[in-house]
Parts: sequence; C-alpha cells; structure tokens
Amino acid sequence: MYQILTKTEPAANIFTMVVHAPRVAKNCLPGQFIILRVDEEGERIPLTICDYDREAGNITIVFQIVGAASLRLSKLNAGDSIADFVGPLGKPSEFCETPIEELRQKSILFVAGGVGSAPVYPQVKWLKEHGVDSEVILGAKNKDFVILEEEMRAYAKEVHVTTDDGSYGRSGMVTKCIDDLIAEGKHYDVCVAIGPMIMMKFCCLTTKKYGIKTVVSMNPIMVDGTGMCGACRLMVDGKVKFACVDGPEFDGHLVDFDQVMKRSAQYKTAEGRAYLREQEGNTHHGGCGNCGGEA
Ligand code: NAD
Ligand code: FES
Repeated sequence: MYQILTKTEPAANIFTMVVHAPRVAKNCLPGQFIILRVDEEGERIPLTICDYDREAGNITIVFQIVGAASLRLSKLNAGDSIADFVGPLGKPSEFCETPIEELRQKSILFVAGGVGSAPVYPQVKWLKEHGVDSEVILGAKNKDFVILEEEMRAYAKEVHVTTDDGSYGRSGMVTKCIDDLIAEGKHYDVCVAIGPMIMMKFCCLTTKKYGIKTVVSMNPIMVDGTGMCGACRLMVDGKVKFACVDGPEFDGHLVDFDQVMKRSAQYKTAEGRAYLREQEGNTHHGGCGNCGGEA
C-alpha cells in the first residue's frame, strides 16, 4: 500500500497528491509515468510524474476528475493509502539522454497547457538542476486554472502566463503567446508542448512555421499503460507506435494528430473498438511487434 501524505485542490476538480513510493522516487526521471489503482477492483490510471523527492521517497501526482476512477481517487485523503502505484514506466524525456553541454547551447521553450503543466514541471526543474535555462508558457482557461506558477518560477528563466479569457497574464491561447514572443524578438531551438491533444496539434502547426523542433506527450490516450490494450496506438512518421511503450514523448511534427483524435474517440465505445480491430488487424492490441502484447 502507498500512503497519501498530502492532498490539495489547486483548481476546481484538479488535485495534487504527494504519495510515499520510495522505489518509484529512487528510479524515476522526468517524462516517465506511474500507473495506480485505488483498490484491487479499481481501474488503472496512468499519470505522468509531476515531482519526486528521492531522499524522502515521495512522488507528486496531479490529476483532474475525468471519470469514475479519478473521482474515487479524489475522495481519498492524506493518511489513506493507494493499493497499487507502479513505475517508473515509459521512456524518460529526451533531455535526460542529451549531453548537458549540448543542452546549454539551446534555447528551450516549454508550453504547459492546463493540467499538462504537471509533466512539464519536472523537466524544467531537472534542466535547472543541470545548469540549463528554459522558458515556460503557462496556459489556462482563466486565472482560477493557472497551476504550478510559483513552482515553475522557481526553476525557469522566464514564465509567460497566458489565459484564454485574459483574466491573468497575457491574453489568448498558448499558440498566440508563441507567435507574440517570436514577434517580440525571442528565438527558440526546441519546444516541448504538453497539454490537451488539440493544444499540442496547434502548437506543432505554430512551431513548424518557425522551424522549431517540438516534442509532445501522448499520455492522454493511454488506458492500461502496459502495451496490451491497444488504446494508445498512434502513427508517428507513418509508423505504428504505442504511447505507453514507445513514448509517451514523440516528435510532434511527425505525429498524425487527426488520426490520434479520431481513433481515441472511436476507442471509447465497444462498437468503435470492434471496428478498429477489424480495420487494424494484427497491428491492434499489441500486434505491432514493439510492445509485447498479443495480436
Ligand atoms: P484546457 O482546456 O484548459 O487547455 C489548456 C490550454 O491549452 C488553454 O489555456 C489554451 O491555451 C490551450 N489550448 C486549448 N485549445 C487550444 C487550441 N485549439 N489551440 C491552441 N491552444 C489551445 O486544458 P485542461 O482542461 O486543463 O486540460 C485537460 C486536458 O489536458 C485533458 O485533455 C488531458 O488529457 C490533458 N493532459 C495532457 C497531458 C499530457 O501529457 N499531454 C497531461 C495531463 C493532462
Ligand atoms: Fe494500452 Fe498503451 S495504454 S497499449
């Protein structure tokens, strides 16, 4: 069992929990995720790690209520325990494998949209701890949904907050902020955009105009996180990939976002899953040959 040490609600229906999980905390890196189950009958919930404290053995997760499983998780309190908390899973961010000297030469921009700010934070922190500066665009619907601002400011060189309704910081979506910053004379070599699928799609279209390499996280399409269910199948550069096994991060300019969004809507119903099985044949449900699942 994994004890919840603290629980807060930084915005409506968005929760932060610090969970004691020493083995995960000892081994995890930015970009990786965990899978939890509230109890033995619970659905699996894959969540990208937001922060870790190796000494204390703690992991911070941030989640939004989107269904029954996350609603049940939100009802737990400090002192309660989670039955399963498995990880770290997935590949670490590309940064963790890039020579530090190379990273120091680059101008790095993070685009953090809404709850997607949670997986951005450990990357910004990891880079600063390795002497690498970065800038962050922190986007939210309105002032009440801006999360992790103080935490980002502690590690980023600059944080540009933007709200869709202009109630705090700059006004407009994160893509407008990218255009505005570049018009103001900023230059970026690399962008990491994490948030809703539609945001990542439009960020990629925006950065493509400027020739800025862009990494995205496909965590939102994961279901079981094990390579077995087939939910997170996507096309990257014309090749079949599974977000939970081959990612979750990919080169955003190579991701077919329209296919991802259409497929994940189809995957939500039994009829849609049957259709996908028929259409994709043995490239469905792990048959890609990469993830160890059954065809
Ligand atoms: P949201 O709807 O408030 O959007 C966050 C920001 O994304 C907005 O403020 C806006 O600036 C930008 N955005 C939205 N639509 C856009 C568009 N069409 N063009 C350009 N920018 C756009 O986000 P939320 O409700 O906090 O987030 C929930 C979503 O985040 C869920 O869909 C969840 O799956 C996703 N999420 C993704 C990850 C990941 O790893 N990619 C992690 C956690 C959550
Ligand atoms: Fe099920 Fe990736 S989440 S195969």
